[in-house]
Formats: sequence, structure tokens, C-alpha cells
Amino acid sequence: MILLIAYLAIFFALSNGSSYNSPDHTDNLTDLNPPTNFRIVDMQFGVLTFAWDSNLSEETMTKFKVKYIYTEKYFDAAQWESESRLDDPEFENKFELHRGVSVRIKNVATQGVKFKGSNWTVMEIPPSGDPETLVSNFSCVLYNNTFMNCTWRPGKKVPTGTRYKMYCKQEDVEIKCAHYYTDLDGRQGCHIGENGIDPSEGVLICINGSNNSSPIRPYYTEVIPRKIEKNNPPFNVEISSNLTVTWEKPSGCVINNHCLVYQLQLTELDENNIEILHVKSDTKFILINANSLKRFSVKVRMKMKGCGESKYWSDWSNEAFFEPKKTFNGRIFVLVFIIILVLAGLLLRIIFRRYKIIMFRPVPDPQRKFKELFEEHNGDFQKWLGYQIPISKYDDCCTVVIEENINCAA
Ligand SMILES: *[C@@H]1O[C@H](CO)[C@@H](O)[C@H](O)[C@H]1NC(C)=O
Ligand SMILES: *[C@@H]1O[C@H](CO)[C@@H](O)[C@H](O)[C@H]1NC(C)=O
Ligand SMILES: *[C@@H]1O[C@H](CO)[C@@H](O)[C@H](O)[C@H]1NC(C)=O
Ligand SMILES: *[C@@H]1O[C@H](CO)[C@@H](O)[C@H](O)[C@H]1NC(C)=O
Ligand SMILES: *[C@@H]1O[C@H](CO)[C@@H](O)[C@H](O)[C@H]1NC(C)=O
Ligand SMILES: *[C@@H]1O[C@H](CO)[C@@H](O)[C@H](O)[C@H]1NC(C)=O
Ligand SMILES: *[C@@H]1O[C@H](CO)[C@@H](O)[C@H](O)[C@H]1NC(C)=O
Ligand SMILES: *[C@@H]1O[C@H](CO)[C@@H](O)[C@H](O)[C@H]1NC(C)=O
Ligand SMILES: *[C@@H]1O[C@H](CO)[C@@H](O)[C@H](O)[C@H]1NC(C)=O
Repeated sequence: MILLIAYLAIFFALSNGSSYNSPDHTDNLTDLNPPTNFRIVDMQFGVLTFAWDSNLSEETMTKFKVKYIYTEKYFDAAQWESESRLDDPEFENKFELHRGVSVRIKNVATQGVKFKGSNWTVMEIPPSGDPETLVSNFSCVLYNNTFMNCTWRPGKKVPTGTRYKMYCKQEDVEIKCAHYYTDLDGRQGCHIGENGIDPSEGVLICINGSNNSSPIRPYYTEVIPRKIEKNNPPFNVEISSNLTVTWEKPSGCVINNHCLVYQLQLTELDENNIEILHVKSDTKFILINANSLKRFSVKVRMKMKGCGESKYWSDWSNEAFFEPKKTFNGRIFVLVFIIILVLAGLLLRIIFRRYKIIMFRPVPDPQRKFKELFEEHNGDFQKWLGYQIPISKYDDCCTVVIEENINCAA
């Protein structure tokens, strides 16, 4: 077993070169032919399917276990990518074809621990069109769950007014651009609308175009929607009196809770102190360090992290505000107490002034009104009546009494 691992290690170490030629393990294996008829059998949106013939004899094919080794290198890269071992003489891979790429394969025959590799068979796939017609600064954003905007800058050598076309494909479905636009920075863009993108699948993109004057170099890429997703902001942000902030994931967001991270921005409104807090997975947070005597506001934003990371944060949610409860805080209490005292004093003064007469008035004394009756007629009612000019019909005795707050019956 250890021997096998050692052999494998040596094999992989050496097979990175152009050919495998270690004499120790060749034994009776004659030199292997390299594969022939290496060809592209399908090409769509930068996805290429290759096939080849091993060109090994029947004898070798039956006597040995034949496999193929595949690797690739972009023209602008320094090294070949890591190798893939294949059972069948075909292979499919995605490429950024505008960079130009070399691919190569070789035969490997094994028998027990013995094996031998052929020379490589190489294919070069150069990009078409002038490099200066290639778009640059390409980027996309997925938003509102299924919408996608992609923007790019036209190549330098492209005649002004040239419209690039963007083609998208997800699984086997081609997606149409809903509309093309030019943004404020002069970048061209394409908007894909409602139900356009399935966020769980990669999107293959090709941007090409044509102009009679110059063939345009097509741009090929793949975007992983979740990695360029700008989620809708969280909503229903609330702060309870016990300083627990709660919020909800935006509707339509199906990302697993444990893949989401949130940022809370806590603003002390009177001091304008801003603090950023980080929350993973949970949709609530207890503000342990917040001072419950201060006014503050909280807003929340989110993104995917931990199951691949999204490039963009959502926008901030609406703000939730916290107003401290009135408490018996020393200074405020004294101040409030003084104000109450002063107000009470003022109130009392007004009341006293208004109702003073009534309040300090002695019990009504009939003697005062009926002065003559008592002073001059010595309480002789008859005499007093005789003296008095007969009471007019309207001079109702009762009226007088009411005016003087004396009960009629008295
Ligand atoms: C290798 O080939 C030689 C003759 O070319 C033969 O004598 C020998 O038995 C072979 N060995 C094996 C392991 O097949
Ligand atoms: C492998 O390549 C070397 C030189 O690159 C060549 O001499 C040799 O003949 C090749 N082997 C085969 C089986 O084509
Ligand atoms: C296949 O290999 C043989 C040698 O075994 C060689 O003569 C022939 O040219 C090869 N076929 C092709 C298509 O390269
Ligand atoms: C492309 O974007 C990068 C930063 O993302 C910027 O530095 C560069 O200037 C941009 N190039 C063009 C041609 O706009
Ligand atoms: C978000 O998508 C829904 C349906 O998918 C749509 O009704 C709504 O208008 C979209 N919101 C924005 C801001 O585009
Ligand atoms: C996407 O493009 C549309 C159409 O130009 C625009 O209304 C919208 O604001 C863009 N959204 C984002 C997130 O870039
Ligand atoms: C080709 O370039 C000309 C400007 O030179 C422009 O008016 C025309 O729209 C372009 N054609 C296409 C198909 O982009
Ligand atoms: C651009 O790419 C699409 C999708 O691969 C293809 O259907 C179309 O013919 C291409 N157009 C040009 C001008 O190359
Ligand atoms: C804080 O209050 C909320 C509702 O007002 C309640 O659901 C939560 O359990 C409380 N938390 C603590 C730690 O008391």
C-alpha cells in the first residue's frame, strides 16, 4: 500500500513534464503513442467538448489499463492547471475563450504498479478578433432575487456606437436580455428582468457583437449568481424595551440562515456615535453595551457569507428608533420636581386670586343687606315693609337671594 502511494506520488510529480520516461517502471512497455485526432466536438458559451483517439494498439488496450490525462493553460498564465485523469477519450470544460487557451492530453497505461505515459498532444485555441475590441470591466449584480444587471466598457478600438450583445445561458435555457442601456459612466449594460435568473445555478455569459469595420473579440465568462447577489434589505427591524433588536430576512430570500451575516449600525442620536456590530445567522441581537438611557437608532444590512461569499452588502434597512423610558435619574428628577413645584405654586396663585372673595368670605349676614330693617326699625319687619316702597312685580325676592348665594328657602 505504502509502495503504491509512493509510486503514485512519483507519477504525479513527474507527469507534470512533457513526457513520462522513468526507466524503472517501463519494463516491457514499449513507448506509448500520444493521442491523435484531438478535436473540438461542441462549443457553446465558452463550454468546449473535446474528443480524441488513443492510437494505442489493441494489445496495449487489453493488456493495460489505459487512461488519459488532461490539463490546460491560458495564454496569459504561467503554468498549466492541475491535471485531470479521465477514463474516456472525451472531456468538457468551461473557458474564458477571449484569453486564448492551450489544452493537452496524453495516454497513460498502467498494469499493477507499472505505468507509462505518452507524449502530450496539444491544441491551441486562440481568440478571434482584435484584442482592443474586447469589453473590459465586466461585472454583474443579481438583485431582487431574480433580476440581473451586467455592465461593461466597450473596447478602445471599437467604433463609437457599436452595440455589444449579451447572451446568457443557465443549464439548457438561454436567457434574453430584457433591455440594453448605457449608464452614467458610459458603460454599456444589460438588464435581465423578473424570473430571469435562477440564483442557484451558474450563468454562462457571452458578449459579442459585430461591426463591418472590425470583428469584435467575444468575451466569455461564468457568473455564480449567489456570489454577485445584492440582497434586498432586511425588514421589520424593531428594538424592544429590553434592548433586543429583531429583524426579518427579506421576502423571497431562500438562502439558508447559517449562510447569512448581518451588520447592525447603531447610532447614538445625541452624540452621533456610530458603531457597527456583526451578527451571524441569527435575526436578533441583544444590545448588551447600549445605554438604555440614551436615544439611538439601529439599521441592518445583510449578505451571504460562509457558504461562498457575496460581493455586495444589501442596502440598509429602515431605521428603528429607541427612546429611553423616563426614570428617576437624579438630576432630571430634581429638575422635574422643581418645575412641578413652580407650576403648582403658579396654579395655586391663580386659583386663589380668582376665588379669593368666595373662599375668605364670612357666612352671609342678612343684617348687612337689610341694614334698615335692623338698624332703623330694630328688626320690625312690618315697619320696615311699610317704610319700603312696594316691591315691583319684577323685584323678586328670590332673585335677590340667589344673587347673594343664599338658599331661597331660608
Ligand atoms: C520483457 O521482454 C523480454 C523480451 O523482450 C522477455 O524476455 C521478458 O520476459 C519480458 N518481461 C515481462 C515481465 O514481460
Ligand atoms: C516523444 O517526444 C520526444 C521528443 O519530444 C520524441 O523524441 C519521441 O519520439 C516522442 N515519442 C513518441 C512515442 O512520439
Ligand atoms: C498511430 O500510431 C501509429 C504507430 O503505432 C502511427 O504510425 C500512426 O501514424 C498513428 N496514427 C495517427 C493518426 O497519428
Ligand atoms: C475598471 O475598473 C477598475 C476598478 O474596478 C478601474 O481601476 C479601471 O480604471 C477600470 N477600467 C476602465 C477602462 O474603466
Ligand atoms: C422585485 O420583484 C418583484 C417580483 O419578482 C416585483 O414585483 C418588484 O417590483 C421588484 N422590485 C423592484 C424594486 O424591482
Ligand atoms: C439595473 O438596471 C435597471 C435598468 O437600467 C435599473 O433601473 C436598476 O436600478 C439597476 N439595478 C441595479 C441594482 O443596478
Ligand atoms: C458599427 O459602427 C458604426 C460606427 O462606425 C455604428 O454606427 C454602427 O451602429 C455599428 N454597427 C453595429 C452592428 O454595432
Ligand atoms: C454571439 O454569441 C451568440 C451565442 O453564442 C451567438 O448565437 C451569436 O451568433 C454570436 N454573434 C456573433 C456576431 O458572433
Ligand atoms: C425582550 O423582549 C422581547 C419582546 O419584547 C422578548 O421576546 C424577549 O424574550 C426579551 N428578551 C429578554 C432577554 O428578556
